[in-house]
Amino acid sequence: MTRTPGAPALPVALDRGAGTPLGTQLADQVRTRITSATLAAGTRLPSSRALAAELGVARSVTEQAYAQLVAEGWLEGRHGSGTFVSATPPLAAPRPASRPARDEPPLLRLSTGTPWIDPAHAALWRRAWREVSAARPPAGYDDPRGLRELRVALAERLAHVRGVVCDPDEVLLTAGTTEGLRHALGALPPGPVAVEDPGYRAAAATVAATGRALHDVPALEVPDLTGTVAVYVTPAHQHPLGRTMPGAHRAALLREARRADALVIEDDYDSELRYDVAPVPALAGLDRERVVYLGTASKSVAPSMRLGWLVAPDGVREHVERERAITHDSPPWPVQRALLALLRDGYVDKVVRSARRVYAERAARVVGALAPYGELTGPVAGMYATFVMPEEQARAAHAAGRAAGYDVPLLADQCRTHVQHGLVVGFGGSLTDRQLDHALAVTTRALRG
Ligand SMILES: Cc1ncc(COP(=O)(O)O)c(C=O)c1O
Repeated sequence: MTRTPGAPALPVALDRGAGTPLGTQLADQVRTRITSATLAAGTRLPSSRALAAELGVARSVTEQAYAQLVAEGWLEGRHGSGTFVSATPPLAAPRPASRPARDEPPLLRLSTGTPWIDPAHAALWRRAWREVSAARPPAGYDDPRGLRELRVALAERLAHVRGVVCDPDEVLLTAGTTEGLRHALGALPPGPVAVEDPGYRAAAATVAATGRALHDVPALEVPDLTGTVAVYVTPAHQHPLGRTMPGAHRAALLREARRADALVIEDDYDSELRYDVAPVPALAGLDRERVVYLGTASKSVAPSMRLGWLVAPDGVREHVERERAITHDSPPWPVQRALLALLRDGYVDKVVRSARRVYAERAARVVGALAPYGELTGPVAGMYATFVMPEEQARAAHAAGRAAGYDVPLLADQCRTHVQHGLVVGFGGSLTDRQLDHALAVTTRALRG
């Protein structure tokens, strides 16, 4: 083997059995040595002829690899003197040593947002996905509003179950509530947004992330919307206080929004999960021109579907449509197609019916255990019940829960300006009846103490 004087041998190993061309393998290995600073800037490489002889490959292999790395700017040929490493990237700052993992078992969160999904309906779930796998996806970018058949099905359901009468072309599929909220905010003029307090943390974070000022407004009062461009509310089931917005409050809120020329953003997240009375109609049914309606599949199908829908006044909807026509960021077609099958085959209705039954039983247990120690803040619906109590008691119960392996959310953690104390006890998700009873026993013991 002839070695260029002064040039180091390149310790590379080429694999003739690999599917990757030899020139590509060589370029990859030399590039890695440069980017990891094993080969310093200014280092002279063997000539392509010498390297080819050393590796036992055709010269075209080494020439191709060098040409590739010259084109990428990692090597440079200096006329008459050879090929050199032209640059190495700055070394990344060393990462701080990771802390040794502590050996604590994870807490079981009594989550207010994770639904219980009846496994009895799994056959319908599988059938929907089989249908998706057999269907042909749209060849190109599809309708930016989302799958038309799904929008038709949702418009029917919205009219029937939520009292929101709209055309399928007014329904826009989203990747869930927060994406819908982001869309609505993007269509609004600059200005602060009022958000109920206590309130959904993801909503407050989404507003804050747009750079808009957040106006915390007491959750159970008709807010003063002077100077704001919108207000975010959860009328069917105030999160986390659980109250249903009374009719007079709804009318007053819409009057105030018209006066202040602000939009009302209605998050209708778990409204179908009433088990004492029929679901209370949505606010959007009263004024489609003032209310942006946000719906989600997170409670009736699964949060991991990341699918929701938005019905908005023309200005907002057209803004989103114009944006989507460029970005094409509508939810993935297979997920939309699956929801269509799940709605059509009655899966969603069955899951909702089963969940109502189970939640009603669990709600009764939670209320039975905690009502002596705190004030229940609203009719229990969905998958959580909220109790207001003195701070010291709430914190003691929370700490006792943690010590026993449960994370029982504190009401104060959902408050921003208007701090209240208590517990928000979730009973959905994968929590078993036994675990719920144990968590309740632990917290009530602390409350008694
Ligand atoms: C108040 C509220 N809104 C909306 C959602 C659902 O959000 P998404 O549709 O983004 O899953 C939740 C879930 O916990 C919620 O608590």
